[in-house]
Amino acid sequence: MSNSFEDALKSVRKSAQSELAQANTEAEVSQLTTDYLGRKGKLTSLLRDLRELPPEERPRAGEQANALKAELEGKIDNLRAHLREEAKQRTLSRERIDVTLPGTLLQQGRLHPITQVMAQMVDIFIRMGFQVAEGPQVELDYYNFEALNMPSDHPARDMHDTFYFSEEILLRTHTSPVQIRVMESQHPPIQIIAPGVVYRRDSDISHTPMFHQVEGLMVDEGISFAHLKGVLTFFVQEMFGKGTPLRFRPSFFPFTEPSAEVDIGCVICQGKGCRVCGGTGWLEILGAGMVDPDVFRIVGYDPEEVTGFAFGLGIERIAMLKFGINDIRLFFTNDLRFLRQF
Ligand code: FA5
Repeated sequence: MSNSFEDALKSVRKSAQSELAQANTEAEVSQLTTDYLGRKGKLTSLLRDLRELPPEERPRAGEQANALKAELEGKIDNLRAHLREEAKQRTLSRERIDVTLPGTLLQQGRLHPITQVMAQMVDIFIRMGFQVAEGPQVELDYYNFEALNMPSDHPARDMHDTFYFSEEILLRTHTSPVQIRVMESQHPPIQIIAPGVVYRRDSDISHTPMFHQVEGLMVDEGISFAHLKGVLTFFVQEMFGKGTPLRFRPSFFPFTEPSAEVDIGCVICQGKGCRVCGGTGWLEILGAGMVDPDVFRIVGYDPEEVTGFAFGLGIERIAMLKFGINDIRLFFTNDLRFLRQF
């Protein structure tokens, strides 16, 4: 075999080996592959030169050249695999997670205490067969007052400290307008509750400008005060425990006749008398009564045919009693130390 071909093979082998030894990246390995094994690569050119050799030398020269080709391909493959593995290890160690380090604590959200109490109250009434109704918070004077037997000169309007948008439009001061909206759109029998937000210009230890009420309304033939008493007694016992006493005190609302306010035995002092109940042993939780015949006439019901009761509970009041909270404003100051207790 011509010495010059063998020398050329040796020199290609030597330079390829030294370049392989220096290649540190996959890009360099690719370049090297092109330089030696590519279409115009050094070894490829040599293989092409085989044709020039005398025929008797070709087999051996070809054998050697192919052996070198196989050797280079093998080394390149190994080097590439090695570099890949190295890169993988580098990434793994860079992204390694130390599971013993303290983690970032994810704060778990929870329902606001008023939302919790409201859900519990709604659940109790639903179990008694009530359906949930809704009405707008921005309400017409007609539904908030007029249709509830409170014409514009009625003194009871003064008790409501209303936020007005105009003479006709206001923020509802109670959930009672939902009674009218429901009766206007449905025929008896009716058995609904209407939980929701209401507004009054009021702010002190037991009043906030925005608060929540649950309205109740039941209308059918033969509904009596005894039904009202039964429903409210069941509610109070479910909410505050079986032995909780309640009493009905005569009161006045323009849209119910007779009207009552309902007190429960003070849950703080168990009726002995304390600061929260003003020493009386009783706490007021709601207003109620039999729907006034005038209200029935306004919505087109015949008061000779149907009777009904209605009640309105302040949800914050119930929540304060349930959790032993003595300032209603705590519910709305968004102090997490307070809210996390529920
Ligand atoms: C009413 O709002 C009547 N609509 C209730 C009613 C409904 C009577 C159906 C008869 C038939 P009153 O103004 O008393 O009534 O309010 C009811 C309850 O809302 C009160 O007992 C009290 O718990 C709560 N409340 C009233 N004003 C505020 C306020 N500013 N902040 C928090 N709670 C309040």
